[in-house]
Amino acid sequence: MRKKIIAGNWKMNLTKNEALHLYGELEVSVDNLSHAEVVVFAPHVFLDALNVAKNAEGLLTIGAQNFYPAESGPFTGEISTKQLKDLDVNTVLIGHSERRTILNENEDFLKQKVDVAIQHGFTVFFCCGEPEEVRKAGQHMHFVEQQLNDSLFHLKAAEFTNIVIAYEPVWAIGTGQSATNDEANQMHQHIRSLLRSKFGDAIANNTRIVYGGSCNPRNAASLFDMSDIDGGLIGGASLKASDFLSIINAAR
Ligand code: PGA
Repeated sequence: MRKKIIAGNWKMNLTKNEALHLYGELEVSVDNLSHAEVVVFAPHVFLDALNVAKNAEGLLTIGAQNFYPAESGPFTGEISTKQLKDLDVNTVLIGHSERRTILNENEDFLKQKVDVAIQHGFTVFFCCGEPEEVRKAGQHMHFVEQQLNDSLFHLKAAEFTNIVIAYEPVWAIGTGQSATNDEANQMHQHIRSLLRSKFGDAIANNTRIVYGGSCNPRNAASLFDMSDIDGGLIGGASLKASDFLSIINAAR
């Protein structure tokens, strides 16, 4: 059985006080997490403060939304994996559609990010997902397969222990229009069958594939009940403690 994993993507939201408050609310409420792992992808400027605030049990993992794939150097405004490690941050997000489209991160750059993160022992949430016109044209399976081939499937089988794949159809992100349970599960099954043919049964059976895109307290339980959906990557609904906590509970 794959343990569910629920991640909150705070994006470019919250002030420091709000972030610490939200984190505190989550921490006091998630006492028993035997059923799921929980990650919070916070803005860089709050990573240190959140790690300082973290209690000894450390049930909530703090992750970074971005980094630049180099150790150090002349990359104005960027943050390295070494700097993240120094803050005790070991989980990163790569390939989010907002970075692909707004920040123009292409497949080669994403591949470099994957390599650097894996070399440095990070857990990677790798995002993939098709835009609306691609789904309308019936090309979504092929499109997602291409994204994975371009930037993720060059890894060795053994490196998949630190990979979580997030399927996030672009048309569902922040729109309130989630994929249906079947639409999401079919894509997850497709991704799992690709993992099986390229890397074998163990990797296919053990790699977590989470769904993201307007996942909320009302649809989370039925999505997470699907055979191949191993949790969620949650944007908007992760900014309110009560909503995010119900989503975490929906993974039970
Ligand atoms: P959403 O965002 O839950 O607000 O749709 C998901 C994401 O972008 O990761």
